[in-house]
Amino acid sequence: MKKRIALFISGRGSNMKAIVEQCQGGILKDLVEVVLVFANRQDAGGLEHAQQLGLETHCIESRGLKRTAFDQKVLTLLSDYQLDYIVLAGYMRVLSSAFVAAYPKRIINIHPADTAQHQGLNGYGWAFEKGLETTKVTVHYVDEGLDTGAIIAQHSVDLKGASTLEEVERRGLAVEHYFYSKTLQEIFE
Ligand code: GAR
Repeated sequence: MKKRIALFISGRGSNMKAIVEQCQGGILKDLVEVVLVFANRQDAGGLEHAQQLGLETHCIESRGLKRTAFDQKVLTLLSDYQLDYIVLAGYMRVLSSAFVAAYPKRIINIHPADTAQHQGLNGYGWAFEKGLETTKVTVHYVDEGLDTGAIIAQHSVDLKGASTLEEVERRGLAVEHYFYSKTLQEIFE
């Protein structure tokens, strides 16, 4: 049985697109069905991409709502979908404990740094400002903390000679786009 997943995004959705491609004809083809792409921002560019890819999309705008009230609305929406996993792909919100409790060990995130060293936003900016020669991307389970959930897998990103933030991001995202699907494959197999 394929795992039924929802992909959660807040922005451009390049990781969402990479995962969907692997579900449609790649390493996740027999393992995963993307039943929903959810965004918390009306202006998330990834929503349009998801529609073009033929996926069901839904947006609940989070601005102006308290965390618990917003998460409750999302939980109500999700209750129609019988999800096995929620896969966060550039979803820029900390989840409430009620939300995490509803999907124990079934929410997965990718973080553009080693979560032991850098939490929160701007992972590539952090690596660039520190002048790191290598950084890591981390796939981890989500708990109610900020990037504190158990690490599932990490992959290094070679930053030698990367002299601009754009280049750091380009190299990091190239790893993310491959590594997230590969890690999901290992979890679901
Ligand atoms: C990715 O680099 C992802 O790792 C990061 O946001 C970007 C989203 O890009 N996530 C976080 O920083 C979460 N703390 P995308 O919308 O193109 O996938």
